[in-house]
Amino acid sequence: MIIAVDGPAASGKGTIARALARQYNLPHLDTGLLYRAVAATVLREGLDPSKEADAVAACGFDDSLLADPFLRTDEVGQTASIVSAHPLVRAALLARQKRFAQQPGGALLDGRDIGTVIAPEAEVKLFVKATPMIRAQRRHLELRKNGINVSLDKVLADIRARDERDSQRSEAPLVQAADAVTLDTSFLSIDAAVQRAVEIVEKKRASG
Ligand code: DC
Repeated sequence: MIIAVDGPAASGKGTIARALARQYNLPHLDTGLLYRAVAATVLREGLDPSKEADAVAACGFDDSLLADPFLRTDEVGQTASIVSAHPLVRAALLARQKRFAQQPGGALLDGRDIGTVIAPEAEVKLFVKATPMIRAQRRHLELRKNGINVSLDKVLADIRARDERDSQRSEAPLVQAADAVTLDTSFLSIDAAVQRAVEIVEKKRASG
């Protein structure tokens, strides 16, 4: 079974993806981390994320980088959104993601284009969403917990900027696959959202 989980930043897709991977014992790839690794390399090497050649040069990152906490920062997230708009960057990361999706025992991948580009054949496709304000509030709370003082307005503006960039790019934009099931987490607790996701998977499996 391949499960594809797509959705915008701070929609809850990461949490849902981890819970489903555990529940169904599937290997999990957070594809955003690959773009974040490219972004972190660009930033560390003083390259320009808006230049395709610079971003492509950063695609040969070492896998040990994927565990680096720097990748989780908002600065890297925004830069990941910039580098991920370059077609040659997406092409450089494509084979690895497709290979992961096609391993014999099945897989779960989360990102922006899993159900549309990476694994259009996935048996289960979830499109996780929430209103921009609710996503901003969640991210704001998380940042404050980590001692980062930033206004809610700034967080909301960043989320809107990222949504705009991720949905408007020409190559593999963030769009819901026609056969994806929407899961709106705006008014759901984490537990309720995960439960709903499991119900969706069960229903799909039952209908074959
Ligand atoms: O899910 P995330 O916040 O870690 O993703 C960071 C950026 O990477 C996101 O703004 C757009 C890009 N991305 C992408 O273009 N395609 C994916 N499958 C995953 C992430």
